[in-house]
This record gives sequence, C-alpha cells and structure tokens, in this order.
Amino acid sequence: MIHTGRHFLQIPGPTNVPDRVLAAMARPVLDHRGLEFAELAREVLEGLRPVFQTTGPVVLFPASGTGAWEASIVNTFSPGDRAVLFETGHFSMLWKQVAEKFGVQVDYVSGNWRRGASPADLEARLRADSSHAIKAVMVVHNETSTGVTSRVPELRRVMNELRHPALLMVDVISSLGSIDYRHDEWEVDVTVAGSQKGLMLPPGMSFNALSPKALAANRQARLPRSYWDWQQMLEPNRSGFFPYTPPTNLLYGLREALHMLSEEGLPNVFRRHARHGEATRAAVRAWGLELLCEEPREYSNSLTAVLVPPGHDADHLRSVILENFDMSLGSGLSKLGGKVFRIGHLGSFNDLMLAGTLSGIEMGLRLAGVPHREGGVAAALDSLASTAQACAASTAR
Ligand SMILES: Cc1ncc(COP(=O)(O)O)c(C=O)c1O
Repeated sequence: MIHTGRHFLQIPGPTNVPDRVLAAMARPVLDHRGLEFAELAREVLEGLRPVFQTTGPVVLFPASGTGAWEASIVNTFSPGDRAVLFETGHFSMLWKQVAEKFGVQVDYVSGNWRRGASPADLEARLRADSSHAIKAVMVVHNETSTGVTSRVPELRRVMNELRHPALLMVDVISSLGSIDYRHDEWEVDVTVAGSQKGLMLPPGMSFNALSPKALAANRQARLPRSYWDWQQMLEPNRSGFFPYTPPTNLLYGLREALHMLSEEGLPNVFRRHARHGEATRAAVRAWGLELLCEEPREYSNSLTAVLVPPGHDADHLRSVILENFDMSLGSGLSKLGGKVFRIGHLGSFNDLMLAGTLSGIEMGLRLAGVPHREGGVAAALDSLASTAQACAASTAR
C-alpha cells in the first residue's frame, strides 16, 4: 500500500523530532576542540540542569540509554556490593541484568508489571538491613513497557525515615521532559536519562545527573570503568570539552530542544502531557478495553499500555494499523508480547496528533475484529475540549 502524508510515530520513544530541532542539526560539523564548540557544550550542559530540576552536574554520553545505565553502575559500585531494584517491567529487568554482569548482588523486589515500586516493600527491605549492606536503591521512574510511574518521593521518604545511607538511582528515560521529576528536591543521587523521548531528539545521547553524595561514592567505587568514567568527563566539561569525540550535531539539536522546553515552560510541558494521558485513558475506557496500569496514582502521562481481550493478538492489531493507517504503536515487551499495545503520547505532540492517533486505533480495532465499543475518540475529544476550555478560562481570569 502506498502511504501519503506523514508517518505517525506513536511508539513511546524514539519520538517525533520537531522541524526546529531537525533544522538546528542540519549544519556543518564543527571542530570539537575549538572555542565555538566549547560555548555550545557549556550552554547545553548548563541548560540541561533545569530540566532535571537540579543545580548539580549533568554528564552527557554519546550513547543510548543503556550506556547511561552502565555508567550509573560502574561509577558507584564495588564488586559484590548489594542493591535493591524494583521489578516494574521489562526495563527494570534489563537494568538489573547490567548490574549483575558487573557483579552487583541485586535484591530484585518482585512486581506484577501493573504497579510501581512499593514503598512498603522498600521499608521492609531496608529495616532488615541494619548493617547498611545495601548500597543503592534503584527504580525506573516511568516503566516504558507498562505505562506505570513509580512514586519516587515516597521511596525517598522511606529511606530518610529509616536513615538508610543507600544511594537512590532513578531511570527517567521515558519521563524526563514529560512527567514532573525533581532530582534535587527528591534527593536522587543518580538520574539516568536519554535523548530520544521527552527531549524530542533522535537517539544517541544519554545522561547521568549527579548529587554530591553520588560523587563521593564515586571516589570509593572500585568497579573498572573507562568510557563511562564521570571524573574523566567532568574535568574537561568544565571548560566545554569532552574526553573523546562528542556528538556535535546532536548538541545543536539539544540546544534547540532546551530552548523549546524553556519557551513552553516545564509546568506547561507537564500539564500538556497530563491532558494527553487523561484523554487517552478516557478513550481506552470508552472502548471498554483494560489499562495495564492498575493504580490510578501511577498512570503514566507519557504512554498508555492497553490490554487486548484474551484470544486476540495485539501485534496483529498493530500490523493492521500500520498497514492501513501508516501508524507505528509500541509492542508488548517480553512477557507482555502480543498481550498489550502501547500508545506513545510524549515529546513533540499536540491535541490533534492525539486525535489522529486515537482515530487510527479506533479504526484499527474495527478492522482487526477486536471486540470494543465505539466512542473512544469522542470521549478523548470531550476530555481534550473540556480541559482546553479550562485552560482558556483560567487565562481569561
Ligand atoms: C525506561 C527505559 N530505560 C532504559 C531504556 C534503554 O534505553 P536505550 O534503548 O536507549 O538503550 C529504555 C528504552 O526505551 C527505557 O524506556
């Protein structure tokens, strides 16, 4: 089938890259040891801090998010150290595997992939650890495989109440720049992020935001590290340079994306994602389908994972939608394969893009013969229109 117009990339990342960012990157490559580069690097490294809501350093690696996972581990642990990591879904499992490959003993707190990290489970683990053998608590803030967001401040509260000295390490790969996340206020020690989701950039850059406590732990940590070494990165970063060749044109894109986020204002960015999350869930409910996330306080505002009824194949539905309407939706990962489809509603996105996305899904449900009720799109439009009016009314006052 020949498709016309734009492809709808509605996977939960990589996300659509706005024209402004694409245009900013379409420039000649510059000398990464020259002064013009140093100015660009200093500007973006500084400009990233408010997005993480931190005043501390943010380290940037030319790598996908998995690189920043590895960096979080090799910079903080020594061989045989223990960590608590919550089973929230596919990505928690992969982060655990990286830690284990480096000899970290991971206490994996089991979960059903439908809820976020449990503060009560953390309390039990930390209470039992009177010798403070646990060196880090690790959690995926927004589990991209399930559409569930963990309540990080509640985990931090448990750690503080028990005066447990473990580091708190949080993966925000699919929440940074789309769901409220506060590195400093929530006393997170290492934040792991990537470029290809809320930051509206192509894949290829990832980040660690660091607390003073993380930097102190780094000085004691004995795991071998080279490419990912924070110290070797922080030193040249001070004058705007990198220890190896940086992704120069991606940095032009990053500068533009940071401008866009600051023009919109982070609170508005979060509000926009919340409206789109709410409207998407309204559509799913109206279709009579089931959200994978079981806990309303943990609904993700950057993506929604939807269960298809038993006996139906989510991958068949996705292929019908791709073939007929040129739209990519996220697949179910590992044990959720064929059982869920995931709608990405993060990054460079607006009301009419969401309306188009949900229309493609509603038509696809019909064509693929998945039992559902009509009216999901109408419910989403109602939700969008009512909150748009609320925005207009509050502006008029
Ligand atoms: C929450 C989360 N963590 C980690 C990763 C791994 O990142 P990457 O695929 O960029 O290496 C992803 C990728 O989608 C993710 O969503």
